[in-house]
Amino acid sequence: MAQFKVAVVVGSNRRDSINRKLAQALVKLAPADVSFQIAPIDDLPIYNQDHEGNLPASVARFKGEIEAADGVLFVTPEHSRSIPTVLKNAIDWGARPWGKNSWTGKVVAVTGTSPGAISTALAQQHLRQIIGAQGALLMGGEFYIQFKEGLVDAAGTVADEGTRKFLQGLVDQLSALVARFAQGAKKAA
Ligand code: FNR
Repeated sequence: MAQFKVAVVVGSNRRDSINRKLAQALVKLAPADVSFQIAPIDDLPIYNQDHEGNLPASVARFKGEIEAADGVLFVTPEHSRSIPTVLKNAIDWGARPWGKNSWTGKVVAVTGTSPGAISTALAQQHLRQIIGAQGALLMGGEFYIQFKEGLVDAAGTVADEGTRKFLQGLVDQLSALVARFAQGAKKAA
Protein backbone atom coordinates (compact mmCIF):
# COMPACT_ATOMS: atom_id res chain seq x y z
CA MET A 1 0.00 0.00 0.00
CA ALA A 2 1.20 3.50 -0.84
CA GLN A 3 2.65 5.43 2.08
CA PHE A 4 1.72 8.95 0.95
CA LYS A 5 -1.30 10.54 -0.69
CA VAL A 6 -1.71 13.24 -3.31
CA ALA A 7 -5.19 14.61 -4.07
CA VAL A 8 -5.53 15.64 -7.72
CA VAL A 9 -7.90 18.57 -8.28
CA VAL A 10 -9.09 19.16 -11.86
CA GLY A 11 -10.27 22.73 -12.47
CA SER A 12 -12.97 21.77 -14.99
CA ASN A 13 -16.48 20.34 -14.79
CA ARG A 14 -16.64 19.71 -18.54
CA ARG A 15 -17.58 16.13 -19.46
CA ASP A 16 -14.78 15.77 -22.04
CA SER A 17 -12.30 17.96 -20.17
CA ILE A 18 -8.80 17.84 -21.65
CA ASN A 19 -7.46 18.67 -18.18
CA ARG A 20 -9.23 15.68 -16.61
CA LYS A 21 -7.74 13.44 -19.32
CA LEU A 22 -4.30 14.89 -18.57
CA ALA A 23 -4.87 14.42 -14.83
CA GLN A 24 -5.85 10.77 -15.35
CA ALA A 25 -2.66 10.25 -17.36
CA LEU A 26 -0.62 11.88 -14.56
CA VAL A 27 -2.18 9.53 -11.99
CA LYS A 28 -0.67 6.65 -13.96
CA LEU A 29 2.84 8.13 -13.60
CA ALA A 30 2.75 7.96 -9.78
CA PRO A 31 5.57 6.06 -8.04
CA ALA A 32 4.68 3.00 -5.93
CA ASP A 33 4.90 4.78 -2.57
CA VAL A 34 2.54 7.67 -3.43
CA SER A 35 -1.11 7.25 -4.42
CA PHE A 36 -2.51 9.99 -6.66
CA GLN A 37 -6.32 10.19 -6.59
CA ILE A 38 -8.70 12.67 -8.18
CA ALA A 39 -10.78 14.62 -5.63
CA PRO A 40 -13.86 15.66 -7.69
CA ILE A 41 -15.18 19.23 -7.52
CA ASP A 42 -18.04 18.92 -10.02
CA ASP A 43 -20.66 18.25 -7.35
CA LEU A 44 -19.79 21.15 -5.01
CA PRO A 45 -22.57 23.76 -4.64
CA ILE A 46 -21.83 27.45 -5.18
CA TYR A 47 -20.10 28.69 -2.05
CA ASN A 48 -22.45 30.25 0.50
CA GLN A 49 -21.29 31.33 3.95
CA ASP A 50 -24.77 30.52 5.33
CA HIS A 51 -23.94 26.81 4.94
CA GLU A 52 -20.65 26.86 6.83
CA GLY A 53 -22.33 25.70 10.04
CA ASN A 54 -23.78 22.62 8.34
CA LEU A 55 -21.54 21.73 5.41
CA PRO A 56 -23.22 20.09 2.39
CA ALA A 57 -22.22 16.40 2.09
CA SER A 58 -20.17 16.97 -1.08
CA VAL A 59 -18.21 19.76 0.61
CA ALA A 60 -17.49 17.63 3.69
CA ARG A 61 -16.37 14.82 1.36
CA PHE A 62 -14.08 17.15 -0.61
CA LYS A 63 -12.52 18.77 2.46
CA GLY A 64 -11.95 15.30 3.93
CA GLU A 65 -10.13 14.17 0.79
CA ILE A 66 -7.84 17.21 0.84
CA GLU A 67 -7.15 16.87 4.57
CA ALA A 68 -6.32 13.16 4.22
CA ALA A 69 -3.75 13.97 1.51
CA ASP A 70 -0.13 15.00 2.06
CA GLY A 71 -0.05 16.98 -1.17
CA VAL A 72 -2.30 18.41 -3.86
CA LEU A 73 -1.76 18.50 -7.62
CA PHE A 74 -3.90 21.05 -9.48
CA VAL A 75 -4.51 20.38 -13.17
CA THR A 76 -6.46 23.35 -14.45
CA PRO A 77 -7.71 25.09 -17.57
CA GLU A 78 -7.51 28.85 -17.97
CA HIS A 79 -10.78 30.81 -18.22
CA SER A 80 -10.64 34.49 -19.17
CA ARG A 81 -6.95 34.58 -18.24
CA SER A 82 -7.56 33.28 -14.72
CA ILE A 83 -8.70 30.11 -12.98
CA PRO A 84 -12.18 28.73 -13.78
CA THR A 85 -15.02 29.63 -11.42
CA VAL A 86 -15.51 25.98 -10.41
CA LEU A 87 -11.94 25.83 -9.16
CA LYS A 88 -12.16 29.08 -7.18
CA ASN A 89 -15.39 27.76 -5.68
CA ALA A 90 -13.65 24.56 -4.55
CA ILE A 91 -10.73 26.55 -3.10
CA ASP A 92 -13.12 28.78 -1.14
CA TRP A 93 -14.94 25.79 0.37
CA GLY A 94 -11.57 24.24 1.23
CA ALA A 95 -10.47 27.43 2.96
CA ARG A 96 -13.54 27.69 5.21
CA PRO A 97 -14.91 27.77 7.90
CA TRP A 98 -12.36 30.02 9.56
CA GLY A 99 -9.87 27.90 11.51
CA LYS A 100 -10.61 24.79 9.40
CA ASN A 101 -8.56 25.55 6.30
CA SER A 102 -7.99 22.30 4.42
CA TRP A 103 -5.13 23.72 2.29
CA THR A 104 -2.74 24.85 5.02
CA GLY A 105 0.53 22.92 5.06
CA LYS A 106 -0.20 20.92 1.90
CA VAL A 107 2.60 20.57 -0.62
CA VAL A 108 1.08 21.88 -3.84
CA ALA A 109 2.07 21.61 -7.50
CA VAL A 110 0.31 23.25 -10.42
CA THR A 111 -0.08 22.33 -14.08
CA GLY A 112 -2.73 22.57 -16.76
CA THR A 113 -3.37 22.54 -20.47
CA SER A 114 -5.13 24.66 -23.07
CA PRO A 115 -4.77 25.01 -26.84
CA GLY A 116 -3.67 28.66 -26.50
CA ALA A 117 -0.16 29.83 -27.38
CA ILE A 118 0.70 30.61 -23.77
CA SER A 119 -1.33 27.66 -22.51
CA THR A 120 -2.54 28.11 -18.91
CA ALA A 121 0.34 30.33 -17.77
CA LEU A 122 -1.80 33.16 -16.39
CA ALA A 123 -4.28 30.84 -14.66
CA GLN A 124 -1.37 29.05 -13.00
CA GLN A 125 0.10 32.33 -11.78
CA HIS A 126 -3.23 33.37 -10.26
CA LEU A 127 -3.64 29.93 -8.70
CA ARG A 128 -0.20 30.16 -7.07
CA GLN A 129 -1.14 33.51 -5.54
CA ILE A 130 -4.50 32.23 -4.26
CA ILE A 131 -3.33 28.92 -2.85
CA GLY A 132 -0.11 30.39 -1.44
CA ALA A 133 -2.23 32.78 0.63
CA GLN A 134 -3.95 29.73 2.17
CA GLY A 135 -0.65 28.54 3.64
CA ALA A 136 0.09 25.85 1.06
CA LEU A 137 3.74 25.03 0.32
CA LEU A 138 4.21 25.67 -3.38
CA MET A 139 6.54 23.58 -5.50
CA GLY A 140 8.54 25.70 -7.92
CA GLY A 141 8.83 25.22 -11.66
CA GLU A 142 6.65 25.95 -14.66
CA PHE A 143 4.48 23.19 -16.12
CA TYR A 144 2.56 24.78 -18.98
CA ILE A 145 1.26 22.17 -21.42
CA GLN A 146 -0.04 23.40 -24.78
CA PHE A 147 -2.86 21.09 -25.81
CA LYS A 148 -2.55 19.37 -29.16
CA GLU A 149 -4.93 16.67 -30.46
CA GLY A 150 -3.66 13.31 -29.23
CA LEU A 151 -1.82 14.75 -26.15
CA VAL A 152 -3.38 11.84 -24.27
CA ASP A 153 -3.86 8.73 -26.44
CA ALA A 154 -6.73 6.21 -26.46
CA ALA A 155 -4.99 4.19 -23.73
CA GLY A 156 -4.98 7.27 -21.45
CA THR A 157 -1.22 7.81 -21.71
CA VAL A 158 0.67 11.00 -22.58
CA ALA A 159 1.58 10.05 -26.14
CA ASP A 160 4.61 12.25 -26.88
CA GLU A 161 7.73 10.87 -25.21
CA GLY A 162 9.30 14.26 -24.49
CA THR A 163 6.10 15.58 -22.88
CA ARG A 164 5.67 12.35 -20.90
CA LYS A 165 9.23 12.63 -19.52
CA PHE A 166 8.62 16.29 -18.61
CA LEU A 167 5.42 15.37 -16.76
CA GLN A 168 7.10 12.38 -15.11
CA GLY A 169 9.56 14.95 -13.73
CA LEU A 170 6.64 16.92 -12.24
CA VAL A 171 5.13 13.83 -10.62
CA ASP A 172 8.49 12.61 -9.29
CA GLN A 173 9.44 16.02 -7.87
CA LEU A 174 6.07 16.42 -6.15
CA SER A 175 6.22 12.85 -4.81
CA ALA A 176 9.70 13.42 -3.37
CA LEU A 177 8.62 16.68 -1.70
CA VAL A 178 5.46 15.11 -0.29
CA ALA A 179 7.44 12.21 1.20
CA ARG A 180 9.97 14.59 2.75
CA PHE A 181 7.40 16.97 4.26
CA ALA A 182 5.06 14.21 5.44
CA GLN A 183 7.92 12.46 7.23
CA GLY A 184 9.04 15.77 8.76
CA ALA A 185 5.49 16.48 9.95
CA LYS A 186 5.21 13.00 11.53
CA LYS A 187 8.53 13.53 13.39
CA ALA A 188 7.37 16.95 14.65
CA ALA A 189 4.03 15.56 15.89
C1 FNR B 1 -11.65 29.43 -22.39
N1 FNR B 1 -10.45 29.02 -22.98
C2 FNR B 1 -9.27 29.72 -22.70
N2 FNR B 1 -8.04 29.22 -23.05
C3 FNR B 1 -6.91 29.89 -22.71
O1 FNR B 1 -5.82 29.42 -23.01
N3 FNR B 1 -6.97 31.08 -22.05
C4 FNR B 1 -8.15 31.65 -21.68
O2 FNR B 1 -8.16 32.70 -21.06
C5 FNR B 1 -9.35 30.95 -22.00
N4 FNR B 1 -10.57 31.46 -21.64
C6 FNR B 1 -11.70 30.67 -21.72
C7 FNR B 1 -12.89 31.08 -21.10
C8 FNR B 1 -13.99 30.26 -21.12
C9 FNR B 1 -15.26 30.68 -20.42
C10 FNR B 1 -13.94 29.00 -21.78
C11 FNR B 1 -15.14 28.08 -21.79
C12 FNR B 1 -12.79 28.60 -22.41
C13 FNR B 1 -10.39 27.80 -23.79
C14 FNR B 1 -10.04 26.59 -22.95
O3 FNR B 1 -8.63 26.46 -22.93
C15 FNR B 1 -10.65 25.31 -23.53
O4 FNR B 1 -12.07 25.44 -23.52
C16 FNR B 1 -10.24 24.05 -22.78
O5 FNR B 1 -10.76 22.92 -23.44
C17 FNR B 1 -10.73 24.07 -21.34
O6 FNR B 1 -10.21 22.97 -20.62
P1 FNR B 1 -11.13 21.71 -20.22
O7 FNR B 1 -12.38 22.22 -19.59
O8 FNR B 1 -11.42 20.96 -21.52
O9 FNR B 1 -10.26 20.92 -19.30
